Amino acid sequence: MTDESTNDLETLAARARESVDACTSLAAIEELKVEFFGKKGAITALLKTLGSLAPDARREAGARVNAVRDEIGALVAARQAELDREELERRLAAGRVDVTQPGRGQQPGGLHPITRVRRRIESLFRNAGFSVEEGPEVEDDWHNFEALNIPANHPARAMHDTFYFPDGRLLRTHTSPVQVRAMLRDKPPLRMIMPGRVYRCDSDMTHTPMFHQVEGLVVDEGVSFAHLKSVLHHFVERFFERRLGIRFRPSYFPFTEPSAEVDIECVFCSGKGCRVCKGTGWLEVAGCGMVHPNVLGNVGIDPERYTGYAFGMGIERLAMLRYNVNDIRMYFDNDLRFLRQFG
Ligand code: PHE
Repeated sequence: MTDESTNDLETLAARARESVDACTSLAAIEELKVEFFGKKGAITALLKTLGSLAPDARREAGARVNAVRDEIGALVAARQAELDREELERRLAAGRVDVTQPGRGQQPGGLHPITRVRRRIESLFRNAGFSVEEGPEVEDDWHNFEALNIPANHPARAMHDTFYFPDGRLLRTHTSPVQVRAMLRDKPPLRMIMPGRVYRCDSDMTHTPMFHQVEGLVVDEGVSFAHLKSVLHHFVERFFERRLGIRFRPSYFPFTEPSAEVDIECVFCSGKGCRVCKGTGWLEVAGCGMVHPNVLGNVGIDPERYTGYAFGMGIERLAMLRYNVNDIRMYFDNDLRFLRQFG
């Protein structure tokens, strides 16, 4: 190899090192590979010239060309690996997902206002030592009527607008049959509430074919009407979170004697008289009374030894008063604009 070609080799090596350093993309690396190692590449050309040299010179020049080729090859490979890694990192960074970000357009759900009110009622009565029980929504005539002192052809049945099944069973028209089931199952003392769905063929601003009631039942020795009034008064004051007047109006239910309708002081006008209480200053919120001795007898509890009280309230009614909703059907329209307000 001539001095001139030695110089060429050095220049070539220097140029290659610089080019490798200057490469900023994988495409540039590919071009570089062609420039030096391709069919018409500089190193390829140099290797080709070796054939024309004498054997000794060829060996020496060959070794030097190979050394340069290996060096450049290694530099190219290292730079390529570096650019590969950078490219990978860039793509990972671009596609990065922050899994802790909340999803887009997802509205968190909430409990239905009726569920919220039911739970509130349950918690208030649990605090007062009541247990919470449930019963079936499909009932038979005996539990829903007969055992509650409402025999066939009793005029009270007409008030119930009952949905019947072809086999004579029915959708319970109130939660009172759960009283019957509880008293058949457990011996006194009993102290429980029984919330659940009930059904009546009726629909307007204040009635829907399905609605919710919560029944209350206390049976023990020495249970009195005064206990009933006191428990209900405490309950409504806690439920509405304020002092509230309460009054009992004489009423009639076949399964209680005496019976009363429970009014609370109007929560909108504090008793002064407004549109909601129709100027009376009072709102009806429950029916109640002392468990009729016939009912105790029907379930095998000695009416001479035990007395009990019972009450029944509409959950939607309480929810309408608490949230100032004037059409009960809003609770069942599933309009999200309405429901979202209770988040
Ligand atoms: N079951 C009655 C109704 O649905 C309410 C009630 C329950 C009355 C318990 C007295 C005692 O109207």
